[in-house]
Amino acid sequence: MANVIVVGAQWGDEGKAKITDLLSRNADYIVRYQGGSNAGHTVVVDGETYKFHLIPSGILYPNKVSVVGPGTVIDPKIIIEEFEELKNRGINVSGLKVSTQAHVTMPYHLALDQAEDRGRGTRKIGTTGRGIGPTYADKADRFGVRISDLIDPKELEEKINWLVPRKNVIMERLYSLPPLDPKKIFDEYKIYGEKLKPFVTDTSALIFGAIKNKKNILFEGAQGTLLDLDHGTYPYVTSSNPVAGGACIGAGIGPTAIDRVIGVSKSFTTRVGEGPFPTEVFGREADELRSQGTAWAEFGTTTGRPRRVGWLDIVLLRYAVRVNGLDCLALTKLDVLDNLNEINICIAYEDSVTGEKYYDLPLAAGIFKRVKPIYETVPGWKVSINNCRSRNDLPQNAQKYLDRIQQLLETPVAIVSVGHKRDHTIVIEDPIHGPKRVLQKSENR
Ligand code: IMP
Repeated sequence: MANVIVVGAQWGDEGKAKITDLLSRNADYIVRYQGGSNAGHTVVVDGETYKFHLIPSGILYPNKVSVVGPGTVIDPKIIIEEFEELKNRGINVSGLKVSTQAHVTMPYHLALDQAEDRGRGTRKIGTTGRGIGPTYADKADRFGVRISDLIDPKELEEKINWLVPRKNVIMERLYSLPPLDPKKIFDEYKIYGEKLKPFVTDTSALIFGAIKNKKNILFEGAQGTLLDLDHGTYPYVTSSNPVAGGACIGAGIGPTAIDRVIGVSKSFTTRVGEGPFPTEVFGREADELRSQGTAWAEFGTTTGRPRRVGWLDIVLLRYAVRVNGLDCLALTKLDVLDNLNEINICIAYEDSVTGEKYYDLPLAAGIFKRVKPIYETVPGWKVSINNCRSRNDLPQNAQKYLDRIQQLLETPVAIVSVGHKRDHTIVIEDPIHGPKRVLQKSENR
């Protein structure tokens, strides 16, 4: 029995879906604990591509329970489209469980997300436009509509009649947006509630039962550490807590139930949306990194926007190791580096104004935006690694790249992904039952 959290160690899009898909094989329950349809997971199984936004990709395996937990925000239209498409493709969705406590993304959240981000002008965040910020803001402000309201027509009608006129004032006066019709919303959302109802339950109690029965539970984080509302590169973050600690709050379980935390990082760095990105590369260098990936690789699954690309940033990963308490790392897309003569690793930052060096992430936004990367350059391997299935199959320089990352992070690289297919994966050490990472004295930096 093991309960494991998988988190993104960068700015999201680390290839978590492939790692959770791999680990899902041994899990009985797969739990999403935060975020909403801003997330995008792509899983390729037997040549078939599946795109997920809300439902854990573990649904592809029979006889597993896929939970969308209390800490998530759910656009009912999207989750319904998602499970109907899966059903049409012959996937059994009876294992889907949706929390009564999750919050519902309403039409005014979608309209306001886009209007508010536009209204930020040069300070825009570049949100996915999926209503995430406004849904979480209403939750914190206690104006939220929960799934328990959505499936109860009386509650739903009362809430819509109370909330929509309030939102219309903001929409019309602040953003010159057309007002929304409460009746139309009720008629549409009542049907969503009916369709979702068979899946809705107290998922915290369900997971507690699973823990007592010694089931294997995989908690899958969406987005990534640097997009965390509290611990990310604020304000260019999402509105939830993707970090490992968020799993306990977002799933409704205690920290004592967690056995392992696995961080997922690309072998380089990408970012979608606005905000500083110290190792970002542009022009030919960027095209080179992008063009090495498979065609779908560097465009956001949710928005289709091209991802910004850059070299691996150890400062960010060191921070991710710390705030998540990572036991080990899964490194994805190592094959993207196959054709490069040389590879840069950012080992520290230098403040471009004061010259001060940073080995830990400077949390002040004013400093972070002006730091420059300090690189160490290592030789590439110039050969395809798609067919490597063990660490020893990898070319010497690829092994050295892994060694250097482990050494700099003082954290083992347990899994390496060398291509987009399920079997393009090297498990170096068992990430779940292997030795648990113990903090070394030298880490008291
Ligand atoms: P929001 O989550 O839509 O509010 O967007 C806030 C920021 O998080 C933007 O920079 C988005 O591009 C980014 N973001 C949100 N979800 C994801 C994701 O799943 N992958 C990568 N970036 C994301």
